Amino acid sequence: MRIVIFGANGRTGRLVTRLALEHGHHAVAVTRRPNEFPFTDHRLTVAGGDVRDPSSLTGILDGADAVLSSLGVPFSLRRLDTYSVGAANIIGAMRDTDVRRVAVVSSTGAYPYPNRIDPPAALRFVEPVITRTIGKSTYDDQRRMEDVVRGSGLNWTIVRPSGLFDLPKPTNYVAGDVDPVGGYTARIDLADYLVTLAADSSCAGKTVVVSTTKDTPTMWQMIRREAFSTA
Ligand SMILES: NC(=O)c1ccc[n+]([C@@H]2O[C@H](COP(=O)([O-])OP(=O)(O)OC[C@H]3O[C@@H](n4cnc5c(N)ncnc54)[C@H](OP(=O)(O)O)[C@@H]3O)[C@@H](O)[C@H]2O)c1
Repeated sequence: MRIVIFGANGRTGRLVTRLALEHGHHAVAVTRRPNEFPFTDHRLTVAGGDVRDPSSLTGILDGADAVLSSLGVPFSLRRLDTYSVGAANIIGAMRDTDVRRVAVVSSTGAYPYPNRIDPPAALRFVEPVITRTIGKSTYDDQRRMEDVVRGSGLNWTIVRPSGLFDLPKPTNYVAGDVDPVGGYTARIDLADYLVTLAADSSCAGKTVVVSTTKDTPTMWQMIRREAFSTA
C-alpha cells in the first residue's frame, strides 16, 4: 500500500512511518520541515506540506491507498484550530484525489470515559483540571476535528489514545470500539494500530481507543517526562 502520513515528523508520526515501511508499505511522510526528517528509505517519500495551507497538499496524495494523521499542536490557552482546519484540508485533498481510507488521532481527553477500566487514581483529579484549563482549546478543536471527519463521507476511523508515553516496541495493547483500559497509550502501540487500520476497514465509521496495559508510567512520571520532552 501507499500510505500518506500527516504529523510524520512528530514522535508518533516517526514511529508510524517506520512501522509502515517495516510492514512493506510505501510511506509518504508529510511535514513542514522536510529537511529535518530523520531517516531515509527507498520506499519513503518525504513531502513538505502544511495542513493549514491546502495548496501545499497538491500532489501529495496522488496514488495513495490510505491516509494516517497523528498531527498535533502543543496545549495552548489560545484558541486552536489546526486539528479541525487540518482535517478539513486533508479531507478536501482526499476528495480531489479519490483517496477514501483515513484514520486520524484524537484523544480520550476530548470525550472523557466514565466507564474507563482500571483508571489510575490520579486521573480522577488530573483530567478534569486539564480539560477545563490548559487542555481546553486542544480538546475543543479535537471535537471539531472529529465532527469534520465523521461528516466527510469517507471511509474513516477516529482513534483516541490516552496519555502518550514511549516504549521501545509494541505491546499486546487493547484497541477497538471498547472502553479504554488504564490511563496511557505507548506511542509505538498507537503507531502499530494506525498502520494496521490503514489496511483494515473493519473499524470504518467507528471511533476507537487504544490502551497500553503493560510497563505504563505513573501519572506523575508521565507528566514530568512529557513536560520536558521535545519532538
Ligand atoms: N500527549 C498526549 O498525552 C496525548 C494524549 C492523547 C492524544 N494525543 C494526540 O496524539 C497525537 C500525536 O502526539 P505526539 O506527541 O506524537 O505529537 P507531536 O510529537 O507533537 O507531533 C505532532 C506533529 O504534527 C505536525 N504538525 C503540527 N502542525 C502542523 C501543520 N500545520 N502542518 C503539518 N504538520 C503539522 C508537526 O510536524 P512538523 O512540525 O514536522 O510539520 C509535529 O511533529 C496528537 O494529535 C496529540 O494531540 C496526545
